[in-house]
Amino acid sequence: MSSSASSPAPRARDSWSGQTGFLLAAIGSAIGLGNIWRFPGVSYSNGGGAFLIPYLVALVFVGIPMLWLDYAVGHKFRGSPPWALRKIIGGGEFIGWFQTFVCFVIMVYYGAVLAWGVQYTIYSVNEAWGADPTAFFLESFLEKVPGDTFSWAPAWAVMIPLALVWVLVLLVIGRGLSKGVEAANKVFLPLLVILFLALVVRALFLPGAVEGLNAFFTPNWAALADPKVWLAAFAQIFYSLSVGFGIMLTYASYLKPKSNLTGTALVAGFANSSFEILAGIGVFSAVGFMAHQQGVAVAEVEGLTGPILSFVTFPQIISMMPGGPIFGVLFFSSLVLAGITSLLSLLQVVSGGLQDKFGWSPARSALVFGVPATVVSLVLFGTRSGLNNLDIVDNFINSIGVVSSAIMFAVLCAVAGPRLGALRAHLNSVSSVKVPKVWEPLVGIVIPLVLFIMMAMSVVDLVTNGYEDYPGGYVMLFGWGAVAIAVIAALIFTFIPWKHRTVDTHATVTRILADDADAIAATEGDAQ
Ligand code: ALA
Repeated sequence: MSSSASSPAPRARDSWSGQTGFLLAAIGSAIGLGNIWRFPGVSYSNGGGAFLIPYLVALVFVGIPMLWLDYAVGHKFRGSPPWALRKIIGGGEFIGWFQTFVCFVIMVYYGAVLAWGVQYTIYSVNEAWGADPTAFFLESFLEKVPGDTFSWAPAWAVMIPLALVWVLVLLVIGRGLSKGVEAANKVFLPLLVILFLALVVRALFLPGAVEGLNAFFTPNWAALADPKVWLAAFAQIFYSLSVGFGIMLTYASYLKPKSNLTGTALVAGFANSSFEILAGIGVFSAVGFMAHQQGVAVAEVEGLTGPILSFVTFPQIISMMPGGPIFGVLFFSSLVLAGITSLLSLLQVVSGGLQDKFGWSPARSALVFGVPATVVSLVLFGTRSGLNNLDIVDNFINSIGVVSSAIMFAVLCAVAGPRLGALRAHLNSVSSVKVPKVWEPLVGIVIPLVLFIMMAMSVVDLVTNGYEDYPGGYVMLFGWGAVAIAVIAALIFTFIPWKHRTVDTHATVTRILADDADAIAATEGDAQ
């Protein structure tokens, strides 16, 4: 970990070609599976229209402030999470690697859902799921074993597209940030918006769409008194905005020194939420159509969350609809495009961390982590236990991994290094929208406290009741095990010596503090 005079000269760091390239990638990262399959169902089951209130509160008071923190740290310290957090304080590197490995864990199962989407785009053409989409999804496609059984046997219909997804994303990430990630986002994000708008417009003209929208937007005010609804809103914003676990920090580190940070964060945050609400409108118009065809109320339609919504309920809707195959291709290709840009952002966190620490090229980094990631992804999520493994890992890494990473990150920035005052000054010295002082107690105290309560409730629930009906040993291995792996890997990587970008802590911090003093003086001067 010590600096050495013989260290290689730093490799020139890649950067976004401009603010637009960054903004597209940031929005591409935020808009993902969470927007299309998670938000509509979460919103519907947590108060319908009334959910928008906690959701918007969470966006404004948690999502945007945390996004500003990610941008401030990434941009100020110009590095991946281990590098940037180590510059704040030596031990911060551990939190940086923890964030990096949380991203690693997410990416290995996230790719599997993309592979499902790829297959279902193809299946849509001839509605290959036939008359029973539930049996097709669980038995023919996933070849799912019961929840108390583990199987290494491949589910080929998942494994083959999953391998292709990995080849594609590793090729993109291996080309580096501007030639790979930025170029891909410039194609995929506009394409996603066009395809998804076409899908929503089509859905709005279906018979029964209005009943679906009524069900989605009709508020159940009583739900607002339930703390679980508020927790669901906070969790949705975290997952959806990709904040607090290294992604936005990494992306912001490739911005040029003169970049508008706060304004860009506002645009990214509101664009993501607008897409999310649009997804709710599209999905519930289609669900309204299904209820109308079946002659039942929307409330009686089952399967409105998670994988079942996208891979069972939607195929049912597609089969009922004139022009169903086109609608199916639009829906599943949107899911794939939304997911790919988010997956690339997860990969860039790991790639950036390795590049910073070992001085490797993007291609070498992609190879070093890409091969093990692909193997783990295929073995755990391309096999017949894939759905069960995914369900458990996803729940634990989000409710514990992501949330604890955000708590540690916010607290670290509040108590160590240049601290929140200096980070605010940094944001204000380059941005159009000025960050008010209240941001400091909000990010340093209120948000970590709220997140801590949220995580503690999840932990108590998991310890007391286990997770769904899975056996305790299975949950221990895949749930707690996924979190433990992120912790152990983070410890190992923290203790590996730096080969590159050596950290001259004293000189760096002295310079940073001097910069901050100038920035604070400039900000206060502006305010007078
Ligand atoms: N933000 C990404 C999503 O919504 C992770 O799926």
